[in-house]
Amino acid sequence: MKYSIQEHYQKLARQYDDFWGNSSDFIEFLSKKIIENLQLKSTDNLVDLGCGTGIFSKGIASQIKLENKIICVDPSDKMLSKIPKNSSYQPLVQDAVEFANEPGKYDKILIKEMIHHIDDKERLLQGLFDRLNEQGILLIILLPPTIEYPLFQQALSVYESVQPNYNDLVNIFEKIGFKTKVNFVEYAVSIPKENYFNMVKNRYMSLLSRFNDQELKQGLIEMTEKYASLSNLEFCDRFVFLLGQK
Ligand SMILES: C[S@@+](CC[C@H](N)C(=O)[O-])C[C@H]1O[C@@H](n2cnc3c(N)ncnc32)[C@H](O)[C@@H]1O
Repeated sequence: MKYSIQEHYQKLARQYDDFWGNSSDFIEFLSKKIIENLQLKSTDNLVDLGCGTGIFSKGIASQIKLENKIICVDPSDKMLSKIPKNSSYQPLVQDAVEFANEPGKYDKILIKEMIHHIDDKERLLQGLFDRLNEQGILLIILLPPTIEYPLFQQALSVYESVQPNYNDLVNIFEKIGFKTKVNFVEYAVSIPKENYFNMVKNRYMSLLSRFNDQELKQGLIEMTEKYASLSNLEFCDRFVFLLGQK
């Protein structure tokens, strides 16, 4: 894991869940989609790889009673420290590629908005294929190649140049031997402008850590001008659900 990304999440850990604090509907909605797409059963061994604060592990656990602890893996101990210390979760401070290449067998693996941090995706995905039981499912959730977030223009351009394209992941999945399927999930976001601007100010996306304080300030000025007449921001959040079954 690159030092700057590690630093980014160590700093963000304190606020991460608060960003979504007013969006419990969103967490509930997406957790339900995750359960459906993973065909999650109460007896499944589930890994949440790059789980962060475990916000979606918690969302899943509130909708389905799992017999086994969810294994919550993340290299940021500060993000992991937000996971409740109880019998539902087993936190593990580890890099995803290392985890994927160590012994262990699991039924379902979730990677949500983490794959863009992995350089050697093939090594990760081959490792995870080996970790899955027969019929096991890997679900990677990532954002599409373009997004409609109300960000400043330069942030959107940089996003498009760095975001992995899910079609490249499909190719790796097929090469490895996964039975592959792509679903698209949409959620209509409505958020007070002030809250969203505050999230941007706090670099809620790691994308924003590519901009220095001055550039971010300039970006916020651009956003302030562009959305001057609005008090609420509405946009469509689209997710790619990439499914690989062994
Ligand atoms: C955008 S957050 C997503 C967290 C969580 N999956 C969610 O959707 O709320 C990205 C997470 O990936 C983690 N991460 C970054 N590099 C990683 C790596 N090499 N292996 C595993 N996790 C990593 C970060 O520490 C961070 O918690």
